[in-house]
Amino acid sequence: MLTPENAMKFEPLRPSRERYDFDHADALVDFAEKHAMQVRGHTLVWHQQLPSWLTERDWTRDELIEILREHITTVVGRYRGRVAAWDVVNEAVADDGSLRDTIWRQVIGPEYIDMAFRWAHEADPDALLFYNDYGGEVLGPKSDAIYALVRDLLQRDVPIHGVGLQTHVSLDWFPEPQDIAANVDSLSANMDRLSALGLVVHITETDVRIERPITEDELAKQARIYGAALEACLSAQNCKALVLWGFTDRHSWIPYAFPGTGAALVFDDAYRPKPAYHSLIDGFAGH
Ligand code: G3I
Repeated sequence: MLTPENAMKFEPLRPSRERYDFDHADALVDFAEKHAMQVRGHTLVWHQQLPSWLTERDWTRDELIEILREHITTVVGRYRGRVAAWDVVNEAVADDGSLRDTIWRQVIGPEYIDMAFRWAHEADPDALLFYNDYGGEVLGPKSDAIYALVRDLLQRDVPIHGVGLQTHVSLDWFPEPQDIAANVDSLSANMDRLSALGLVVHITETDVRIERPITEDELAKQARIYGAALEACLSAQNCKALVLWGFTDRHSWIPYAFPGTGAALVFDDAYRPKPAYHSLIDGFAGH
């Protein structure tokens, strides 16, 4: 399974209101098909990576609804039957559990979420449609808020099929070895309650960052965290994918976003497999 890291976001796809640039997105979808990989489309509605032509002027509610409708219809329609799953709405819940204050919410209102899922479903009725977010992996205020959001969407018959758990974490996610089991239980319980709603789960953007300088012990701990996430996914009824946010430490957003940290992926910057890679392979082999 392949997720374009940036190429399907609003800004790269839309150099201007009139023009779409599908070159990179097309190349990735072609690559995936050539290698028998599914594509996770990422992402249709987000508050980041929006073009300045969109953010740097005022729109009426009707105008912004039309921009979003046209965008979703065009992008999902272009890849109809070729993108298996879409992150329709990304990170709409703030860290305190409230609905994030974004251009979409301010101008359109909270119903932008319902609209986005309905338009995406119309444009490709067979694609799996996801709500995707970070920090909602284990039980807690944020995952409670995400649960409530998707439950309400389902109650209103909004076509949503899954929740993406991004899983950008650090070694502190499981502070002590004995906490790993407790966290796997909590992750599993969160997946279970989504399963009870009839929703699929994808772990969508895994990376496990480490503070530099990095020791062998830390790489071993990182491997245990990757293994634990895989174990939770494999033992859940509804977890159907585990995607990493890149594969080699040579190309990763982590050193830019969290200066002083890195080595978050499963191959090092010379493309050599790390303990985390072996942990995933062992996890699959043992299942
Ligand atoms: O493409 C331009 C390039 O033309 C320009 O010269 C350069 C100079 O700044 O910027 C390039 O764009 C950068 C883009 O990545 C492509 O490399 C942006 O500045 C940079 O902000 C952007 O960062 C991306 C980030 O989302 C944006 O918030 C990361 O690569 C990407 O990994 C990250 O991914 C997000 C997921 O979409 C959602 N979940 C969280 C995850 C991590 O933040």
